[in-house]
Amino acid sequence: MTETPNPHFVIAVDGPAASGKGTVAAGLARAYRLPYLDTGLLYRAVGVLMRRADQGLDDEAAATAQAQMLTADLLGDPGFRTRAAGEAASRVAVYPRVREALLEFQRTFAGQEGGAVLDGRDIGTVIAPDAPAKLYVTATPKVRAERRWKQLNAHGERVSRADVLKDIRRRDARDGGRDTAPMKPASDAVLLDTSEMTIEQAADAARRIVEAARARWITSS
Ligand code: CDP
Repeated sequence: MTETPNPHFVIAVDGPAASGKGTVAAGLARAYRLPYLDTGLLYRAVGVLMRRADQGLDDEAAATAQAQMLTADLLGDPGFRTRAAGEAASRVAVYPRVREALLEFQRTFAGQEGGAVLDGRDIGTVIAPDAPAKLYVTATPKVRAERRWKQLNAHGERVSRADVLKDIRRRDARDGGRDTAPMKPASDAVLLDTSEMTIEQAADAARRIVEAARARWITSS
């Protein structure tokens, strides 16, 4: 087990849907004994809570109000993990005011003593631009669709592989094409392509990247 490297070590993990970033981020959090936040859950929560309140996802004011009311204790809801929740999340995530409403919670999480691991789309670029360790986790759309299809099946959602691949491509285009905080690697992020890797191989590769970043960070601080 690796010790927490130093006071306030933030690890930013970004990447597209089902790239393996959540697994990588959770593994790093365990290894470095740091608290972990899956920021996608915040956007998923806003989308699902709107749906439950019969609000249309094109209503930016309603989405912003949901984002402002969100509290951490709501995030364990299994309803946020569904296919529909992922789609709703990426629709509300385009709104600048929704992102603004969720910013402080994420920055506070990243700023806690000792540091933290956060995963999402804009962690290295917007939420924690000074993070000493940044990873951008990718995999081919086909591999990501297969992984997501298996996850959805395990949760009892019946859907075809072809439809999951369509979801992934649509989400990539929306997340990467939006004006505010588009999904993209930070200029100082290390790319990790997990297409050909098992979970263990991806976790090991991520650890090596973070160890190298930590060594640079210790030398420079
Ligand atoms: O697990 P998956 O990669 O499918 O998605 P997620 O990380 O739970 O994120 C769901 C959606 O929330 C994404 O498609 C993005 O549109 C949005 N999101 C974002 O805009 N910024 C983040 N930091 C995290 C998620």
